[in-house]
Amino acid sequence: MSEPFAMPHPSVAQDHIVIHAPSGASAAELAMPGDKSISQRAALLCGLARGGSVVRNFLVSEDALHTLGAMTAMGAQAEVDGDSLRIQGVGLRPHAPAADIDCGNSGTGMRLLSGLVAGQPFRTVLTGDASLRSRTMERIREPLVKMGAKVVLRGEGGRAPIEIEGGGLRGIDYVMPVASAQVKSCVLLAGLFAEGPTTVTELRPTRDHTERMLQYFGHPVEVQGARVTVRRAATPWDGAEFAVPGDFSSAAFWMVAAAVREGSRVVLPSVGLNPRRIALLDVLGRMGARVRITPDPAEGQVEETARIEVTGQGLRGTAIAGDEIPNLIDELPILAVAGALAEGRTEIRDAQELRHKESDRIAVMVGNLRALGVEARETEDGMVIEGPTSLRPARPCASRGDHRVAMSMAILACSCPAPVRIEGIACTRTSYPAFWDHLRTWGARLETD
Ligand code: S3P
Repeated sequence: MSEPFAMPHPSVAQDHIVIHAPSGASAAELAMPGDKSISQRAALLCGLARGGSVVRNFLVSEDALHTLGAMTAMGAQAEVDGDSLRIQGVGLRPHAPAADIDCGNSGTGMRLLSGLVAGQPFRTVLTGDASLRSRTMERIREPLVKMGAKVVLRGEGGRAPIEIEGGGLRGIDYVMPVASAQVKSCVLLAGLFAEGPTTVTELRPTRDHTERMLQYFGHPVEVQGARVTVRRAATPWDGAEFAVPGDFSSAAFWMVAAAVREGSRVVLPSVGLNPRRIALLDVLGRMGARVRITPDPAEGQVEETARIEVTGQGLRGTAIAGDEIPNLIDELPILAVAGALAEGRTEIRDAQELRHKESDRIAVMVGNLRALGVEARETEDGMVIEGPTSLRPARPCASRGDHRVAMSMAILACSCPAPVRIEGIACTRTSYPAFWDHLRTWGARLETD
């Protein structure tokens, strides 16, 4: 049976692009796509609900649709119309999928789904694209095995495909060795199907969308400092109707694009402002950016939103480290771009996790910054960038299949006097298919030979 939803239509068909910077300062109001983390949790938790849900501003991107596809493979019924998702849940009783589940490029999808299927009395195989199959899954195998699931990592060195024989789980008290919302959410989702309480203790606070959405659906989550506890879901929650906030991580590209250019201005309405996602605001503040946040409590939002306005003026370099890191982990590539254009040194530390994302973001970003003439060097757990740079493209940029790298370099290209070629841009469909249209609205000219 074919799925009643299709992968996003690319606004640029080629896998490379040449970017000509806007001729002067830019001004735009841009509507952000739905938050990727929240959209994936919406697919999972509405998919588990009893009855129907309607999710507005659902992110129609490859990652979110792969997660949704996994839920339909387990019995949920879903239809996507524009950016609205209608979904009929399985009432906490997913069916065994008929085939391996393809998570595409999505680490969040694979890790959260692993927790969910570990609670089910059947065998599931989760796989994904080459990038996802190169990322470590050992970090979820360990707690799931402690809970009683049989988990085999079929890829070399603790990688996907993941084969899980689930059911019969018992709750655990788990202290996470890495600061990862994906691992936390994996264990909490498995805990919904386990005997006894399941507690996760975090080293550093990470995004709490799973906890918030469970509470939104009426399932109790106890939070005591760094400890989060859930219990078995004895009865399913009812479906609901809500809107997904605009993605703060997508908004970050435009916040930096405006901040680095004197006279530029961007307005971003209805962006999610989860306190565990917005450390970028503090960093931009330290760098001297002019950011205005106005609450705009739109109707039926599942988390709080605000209108963000940024006007450009010169930035200065800063140091980013410690507890801030998990709360801006996805914004570090675009912050490296801000650092390249800021006055003085920008230093990122304590960010080893960047090496385990869709690419090794430390190596790949430093390589790309240097391709445009930026003085940047890798450290084991971050990078050091000396700004400001007069950009001189010496060779094309290469995203290495990493959407946030491609989009960050596109924003840097908007400050470059010469055209910049970026190779590997199809990956932006995983999180932000409208990015290239928005870049045109921002005033860049795109050559797509
Ligand atoms: C995510 C958590 C983060 C983030 C990823 C999305 C999530 O990963 O980098 O893009 O939705 O839970 P980690 O929690 O592994 O750091």
